Amino acid sequence: MDKKDDVLILAIESSCDETAAAVVRNGREVLSNIISSQIELHTLYGGVVPEIASRKHIEKINQVIEEALEKSGAALEDITAIAVTYGPGLVGALLVGVSAAKAISFATGKPLIGVHHIEGHISANFIENKDLEPPFICLVVSGGHTHLVVVKDYGVYEILGCTRDDAAGEAFDKVARAIGLGYPGGPKIDRLSKEGNPDAIPFPRAKVDGASFDFSFSGLKSAVLNYLNSCEMKGLAINRADVAASFQKAVIDVLVEHALHAVQEYHFQKFAIAGGVASNSALRAAFEQECSKRKIAFYHPSSILCTDNAAMIGAAGYYEYIKGVRSGYALNAVPNLKLGER
Ligand code: KG4
Ligand code: ZN
Repeated sequence: MDKKDDVLILAIESSCDETAAAVVRNGREVLSNIISSQIELHTLYGGVVPEIASRKHIEKINQVIEEALEKSGAALEDITAIAVTYGPGLVGALLVGVSAAKAISFATGKPLIGVHHIEGHISANFIENKDLEPPFICLVVSGGHTHLVVVKDYGVYEILGCTRDDAAGEAFDKVARAIGLGYPGGPKIDRLSKEGNPDAIPFPRAKVDGASFDFSFSGLKSAVLNYLNSCEMKGLAINRADVAASFQKAVIDVLVEHALHAVQEYHFQKFAIAGGVASNSALRAAFEQECSKRKIAFYHPSSILCTDNAAMIGAAGYYEYIKGVRSGYALNAVPNLKLGER
């Protein structure tokens, strides 16, 4: 592609506790990816405090955008369009990114594109896997979502299943808190599990009656809490590494079984994972092994592109841009935006 035909997207993400901006060329080449994480701030409270998140986003947003432009080597005039996460997420947090994007779009006259956060997570797979094109099946596992999706085309999705209660990441965070690991729980359980026996405690693998692609993790979380209580009451020592490893294995078994059932039932040869939990080392290893056995191509973003970032929003925004999608200045934050909805 001729340089003058390059599409440079300035992308902004502020849906939860990361203030992020990135510049992405032609959907798949990341020129800069700046993430200012608030994790340390929220760790004090054991989870994300929405009001604190919004305030921190306001403090950081301009700085992060400027840094993303500077690192990319592109000037604001070189940017083709501005993409921003407008949902789902925390309303106050989303509004900071949406307002910043609208202001830049208004001041420069460049088009504005509202992007769905989950669409961003899925599109993170396009960045490092240059050969990956729809259709494929993607399992999105994050702190707020657990979705099994057919990616029919760029920006076109069919949801096969989702969680009926807790998201996979939420279960990781709650169990981590129960065994005293603190926030965010996912990476800590991932690490501690390496020292534990995944078969030590037989935690349940929940199935949802009549919906083989749906998930349920609240029963598993309760089973872990009951196990901890009963050990305490009996005066038995708790092996935290065994609890972590056994819980993690229970989550992974269900995710792998449901996802690969869908891939085979719908006769797909390509499968991808996305979202914060997709950086879990045991989850990746399990999918690598099971996909290779079945000759299914397995894709996943690198860890930095799994957790919240703006490069993924730039990738998704690019495909919306070339389809002609434009958002007006009436674009608003939509905290419970559904995938595939505009
Ligand atoms: O995608 P993400 O950054 O934010 C949302 O959109 O929710 O996901 C954050 C979630 C948290 O629940 C965190 O505990 C989980 O992803 N997570 C992990 C790992 N790294 C992050 N869960 C399991 N293993 C990990 N290595
Ligand atoms: Zn996310």
